[in-house]
This record gives sequence, structure tokens and C-alpha cells, in this order.
Amino acid sequence: MTTPAHVAIIMDGNGRWAKARGLPRLAGHKAGVEALRQAVRTASDLGVSWLTVYAFSSENWSRPASEVSDLLGLLKLFIRRDLAELHRSGVKVHVIGERQSLQPDIRMLLDEAESLTAGNRSLNLVIAFNYGGRDEIVRAARKIAADVAAGRIDPAAVTEQTVSQALDTRGIPDPDLVIRTSGEMRLSNFLLWQAAYSELVFLPCLWPDFGAEHFEEALRQFRARERRFGGRAERDVISSSA
Ligand code: IPE
Ligand code: IPE
Ligand code: MG
Repeated sequence: MTTPAHVAIIMDGNGRWAKARGLPRLAGHKAGVEALRQAVRTASDLGVSWLTVYAFSSENWSRPASEVSDLLGLLKLFIRRDLAELHRSGVKVHVIGERQSLQPDIRMLLDEAESLTAGNRSLNLVIAFNYGGRDEIVRAARKIAADVAAGRIDPAAVTEQTVSQALDTRGIPDPDLVIRTSGEMRLSNFLLWQAAYSELVFLPCLWPDFGAEHFEEALRQFRARERRFGGRAERDVISSSA
């Protein structure tokens, strides 16, 4: 198996990383941004075409207000500081997640990141911000329901493709590989529809420690997997047709 075209990462463990060092959680989140910069470079170096990162979930609003504000601040800082560099290196930025209810300044920064880099052709970086898989599916269902109510779609004509096209990830291929750091083994509402047949790799390292060697280790595990998509293992198909 070759290099996955689309790698999605649940960047988890910033809080534990900080705690282990007796530092405030903000220090962990800052170190996490540095690990993200590194991951973007590594993805390009390894020939990955799409990198999706889970930056803030629709459930992360339930954290204490000070931490939420730190996380929003870091996103703004990341875009203000790194956008020019990302653009120079040909990265095309996409943002998924619910955007309407975000503060106008954040919305503008996200819009700007997408429009500035729209013509770029190297790595596609998808930032999942205020993103939740269930919320995304609910918003898609509303769009489709509105189209049905207006007579634009016949309910019998709704297909998997109709749903895919109504999601935030319209036009983005499904992830081949989902990596989660920090040892937690769950999806936490990430890409629920899109990850139907993704390979999942869980790494014990905390996100701020994630470097090129961890990225490579995840790709090694991915290559050792056999993807079947509900069909038959390749060797079975070759050895018998029964
Ligand atoms: C991931 O690190 C960053 C976000 C969820 C935004 P955490 O903050 O979840 O760190 P842990 O899981 O508490 O260690
Ligand atoms: C998932 O991590 C969200 C992000 C990495 C942005 P969480 O730390 O929020 O997930 P849970 O609460 O442990 O499931
Ligand atoms: Mg966490």
C-alpha cells in the first residue's frame, strides 16, 4: 500500500503534556501549534496531498471560558502569523465546521485564509474548527430537507452522493488514515461520515511531542493494513472465485 492521499489528525494531549511539566494548559496548546507547523511540513515532505487537523470541536465550548478564549486566540495568532508562509509554500487552506455562529473577526480570518490560498496547488490543509461530525450531518440534513421542501429534490433521489455534497467536506476526498495522539481510542465526533472506511492509528505520544518520526510511524502502520471496503481480501480473490 502506498502513501495515503489524505491524512486526518486528532491533535490530542496538549493539556497532559503541560501538566506533566507543571505548566499551564496554555503552554501545552502553544507547543501544540508548533507541532502543527511541523506536521504541515512533514505532510508535504512525505507526499501527502490532504492533511486535515482537528483544531477545535463543537464540544470544546464546554471547557472553562479562559481555555476557550486561549484556544480562539491561538487560532487567530496562527492564521495571522502563518498564513503568509503557508501561502508562499503553496498550501491551500480549507476550513470545515460551523462558521456562522463564530465571532466576526475569526470568521473573517478563516475566510481570508481560504480566499488568499484558493489558487494554490501543493498541500491541501483542512482546518476543522468549531467542527463536530454530528453537527455537520445535521446541517447537511437541513439543507437537503430545504431542497426537498422547495421541490428541488425528490426524496427518492437522495443518495450517499447527495449527503456527501451537502457536508462541509464537499469536494474533499475521504481520509485514508486517521491518526489520534495521546493514547485515547475514540473519534470524539471527528469526520463521522467521512471516516467510514478510514484506517485508524492511535499513537501514545502527546500532540506537542508529535514529530516527523511519529508521522512516519503512522504511515508504516497504515501500509501494513489491508483495506477491504467490505469486499474480499485481495489474495482470496486471486486464489479462488468462489
Ligand atoms: C487537544 O489537547 C487540544 C484541543 C482539544 C483543542 P487537550 O486540551 O484535549 O489535551 P488533553 O486531552 O487534556 O491532554
Ligand atoms: C478532540 O479532543 C478534539 C480536538 C482534538 C480538537 P478532546 O480532548 O476534546 O476529546 P475528548 O473530550 O477527550 O473526547
Ligand atoms: Mg483531549
